[in-house]
Amino acid sequence: MATGNIIDDLKGRNEISILFVCLGNICRSPAAEGIMQSVVDKAGQSHRFRLDSAGTYGGHAGELPDSRMRQCAFQHGYRLEHRSRQVRSTDLEEFDLIVAMDNTNYDNLRRMAPTVEDERKVVRMIDFCTDHDHYTYIPDPYYEGMAGFHIVIELLEDACQGLFDALK
Ligand code: 4NP
Repeated sequence: MATGNIIDDLKGRNEISILFVCLGNICRSPAAEGIMQSVVDKAGQSHRFRLDSAGTYGGHAGELPDSRMRQCAFQHGYRLEHRSRQVRSTDLEEFDLIVAMDNTNYDNLRRMAPTVEDERKVVRMIDFCTDHDHYTYIPDPYYEGMAGFHIVIELLEDACQGLFDALK
């Protein structure tokens, strides 16, 4: 895993805030937030984690997740009710960890970071997958069919469990 340093710093801490980020904040990152919430709830660790999500593009601000994403997540046992919002540079100061869904999000977030310390907080979601080593990022399902949404859920379940295990 290429993200060892910041994760080692956070490991075992009593309170950890995590912001999941994609482009529109209506497909991948709200699903990541919902799945991670389920992982920490099931582990009895919800008191330790503050979770949120945002998008680098603000055009969907205020919207619920895409109906295809909500339907697919529901079939996998998750109810997604986050309202989309655009990421702000203060998020990079305020959150302990910023998790990017793809490499464009990752590059944009690192550029937004006000300090080198804040830049270190930006990591890639795919690096926490342990069962899916043929993917190099969480693919954008927006222009895909339903199969693309199911793949996103599968990758995010793997990555959320990997992230949680890394922070235990
Ligand atoms: P997301 O998917 O980044 O996973 O939320 C997208 C949502 C909206 C658009 C692109 C991707 N869009 O172009 O509006």
